This record gives sequence, structure tokens and C-alpha cells, in this order.
Amino acid sequence: MQALILAGGKGTRLRPLTVYTPKPIVPICNRPFLLYQIDTLRRAGITDITLSLSYQPNKIEQLLGDGSDYGVKLKYTVEPQPMGTAGAYKFAEDLIRDRTVVFNGDILTDLDLKAVIREHNERKATATIVLTPVSDPSSYGVVETEKDGRVHRFLEKPKADEITCNTINAGTYVLEPKVLDYLPTGENYSFEYGLFPDLLKRGEAFYAHIPSRTYWIDIGTPERYLQVHSDLLANRVVRFHIKERRGQFDAATVAEIDDLSIIGDDCQIKPGAQIINSVLGQGCFVEERARVENSVVWPHTRIGTNAQLIGAIVGRGCHIGRSAVVGPGTVLGDKTSLTDYTFTCNMEVSKQ
Ligand code: GDD
Ligand code: MG
Repeated sequence: MQALILAGGKGTRLRPLTVYTPKPIVPICNRPFLLYQIDTLRRAGITDITLSLSYQPNKIEQLLGDGSDYGVKLKYTVEPQPMGTAGAYKFAEDLIRDRTVVFNGDILTDLDLKAVIREHNERKATATIVLTPVSDPSSYGVVETEKDGRVHRFLEKPKADEITCNTINAGTYVLEPKVLDYLPTGENYSFEYGLFPDLLKRGEAFYAHIPSRTYWIDIGTPERYLQVHSDLLANRVVRFHIKERRGQFDAATVAEIDDLSIIGDDCQIKPGAQIINSVLGQGCFVEERARVENSVVWPHTRIGTNAQLIGAIVGRGCHIGRSAVVGPGTVLGDKTSLTDYTFTCNMEVSKQ
């Protein structure tokens, strides 16, 4: 059993965060995102993992290396240009001649992968796709199933009047190697628009796995990037309970840091500062009476005296001027510098 992680997208919806950091390794609670997927695979006993890259591949390879630090064996393929989800899988075929688990490289889930593989084997499926319910399927692939679990219809990014159910493609598949023979070589090709409809036309054994009570999120937008942090901080993700929340850092005794927040190594937190339900990356500096709430701050950022960050995402190496108010929905790219007294939201928040 092998795994392929599709990690070649540009992460456009997470810009400006993904300008210098490719989406697969954006920090989630101070850990590169892909490590969560690697954990899930390792727990299911899968250690032969290929990363399919295209955008800023060197940064990912440099960070994760051969995988030995994480108890797995990592291999890499880099497409000359993005070849689409199924095109990327075909491009990696020399490395994946076995039954393969394929992950979209931007979903965080506490799925029981062993159960998916067991069901795939019992059904002698050619392909198994994991589903999850969502309230608005329009930005996903909607999947209708039969009573016996067979996929009946797959429709990517349906229009409002095409949505017939709330179960969507959760971006996890188990594929038999024969699927590779259905894919064109050297062409841009998609699982969602190409292979899945094609498997249905061919009458292949294409099944859905519907897990019960499983956490699932696509981290690919700023709203969901913040959401996954608040879910992890609240320990709502069963298989990823956070135990260690505090690195080695300096904090004034009169600073307030709530139990939920994660503080990276080498941070300095000055008197009267408040850190609430937030994550501070390594080496952040929070000045007197600054307040950081429901926010994620990447490493080496400085937050000035009296400044407020509420519901914001702040990239690496930023400088937030004194008394600035950075409000809900704000996303600042790496190295942003905000002049003292800047505000990015209505005054209601600043008065809180
Ligand atoms: N190597 C490689 N090459 N990877 C790619 C390419 C490519 O050309 N295109 C996309 N990917 C990777 C992305 O990095 C991402 O991890 C994954 O494939 C899915 O691409 P997204 O761009 O994030 O797709 P989406 O979120 O709009 O939709 C997909 O995911 C949904 C679940 O989150 C689809 O699979 C939907 O059907 C699904 O519901
Ligand atoms: Mg996505």
C-alpha cells in the first residue's frame, strides 16, 4: 500500500499567505500542514509516500527531506507545469505501481483510514472515494450514491440548481493501479471532471465510503484556515488533540495568556498583553497591553504597544504599529508593516 499527496496547487485562495509559503506547508498550530496528513497515513501503516509537487517544490522538499524525521519514506515528483489532479497521479506512475491512497494536499481530517481501506478491499472496488457532508456543496464535488454504496453521479462545483445532496468529495481516494491505464499520458487531466465521470461510464466498481462523525475541513481559504485553528485549539479534532501548547518563551507575570493559546519558542510577551484563543509562531514579540484574540500569527512578528489583533491572520516577520487595530477577516502577507494607529476594521471592534 502506498500514498500520493497532491500538493501542487498554487493556493491562490490563501494569498497573500501562500506567496512565500506553498499551501501544503503553511503552519497549522505551528506545524507544517503536511505533517498532519503524514500522521494520518502513518497511523494506517502507510509509510511509502510520494508528494506530487509543482508550486515552490524546493521549499517543501527542503523542509520535509526524506521523511525519516517523521517515521516515513518520502519521495517527490515535480511536474514541469501543473497537470491537474489526475494528470499529477499519472505523472507519478513510475513511483506508484501498487494500490494507492490519494490525498488532496489541503484537507485536515481525523478519518479512520484503515476502515476505508478495509471497505475498499471487501468490496473489491476499483476506486473508493471518501465523502463528507457540508452545508454548501457548491465549491466542492458533489457525490450521489446508491443504497449499496456505489457512486451514482459525480459533479464538480455544481451550480445551485444542480445540488441534489449534501455529500461531497472529501479529497481522499483509494485507487487500484489499473486506474492508471484509464488516464492519458502527458496531458492535463482531472479526477473530478475526467476520471470519475469516466469510471461511471465504464461501469467500474466505484464506491463511496461515508465515515461517521469525522472531522473534515479544506484549509484552502482564510476563513477555513482560521476555523481549523479554533477547532484544534478547542481539541475538537479527535485524533489531533494538542498536548504541548507552550514553547520556551518569556512572558511578564502580568500578561494574560489563556489555556487554549499556543505560544511558540522564543516569544516575548510584555506586561498587560493578552493572548486569547490564538497561536503565536516562534520568536514573536508582543508589546505592553497589546491584545491578540482568535488570531494566528506566524513567526518573528512584532505587535506594538496597545495594538489589537482580532480574528486576523498575520504572516511572517510583520510589524504591527502601536495602537493599530487589525480586525476580523484581515490577512497580512509576510513582512507587512502597519504604521502606528492603522485600523483595518470598523470602530466597534476597537472599542471592545
Ligand atoms: N501536483 C498537483 N498538480 N497537484 C494539484 C494540481 C496539479 O495540477 N491541481 C491541484 N492540485 C492539488 C492541490 O494542491 C490540492 O491539494 C488538491 O490538488 C485539490 O486542489 P484544489 O485546488 O484545492 O481543489 P478544490 O478544493 O477546489 O476541490 C477539490 O477538493 C474538494 C475537497 O476539498 C476537488 O477534489 C473537490 O471535488 C473536493 O470536494
Ligand atoms: Mg482545496
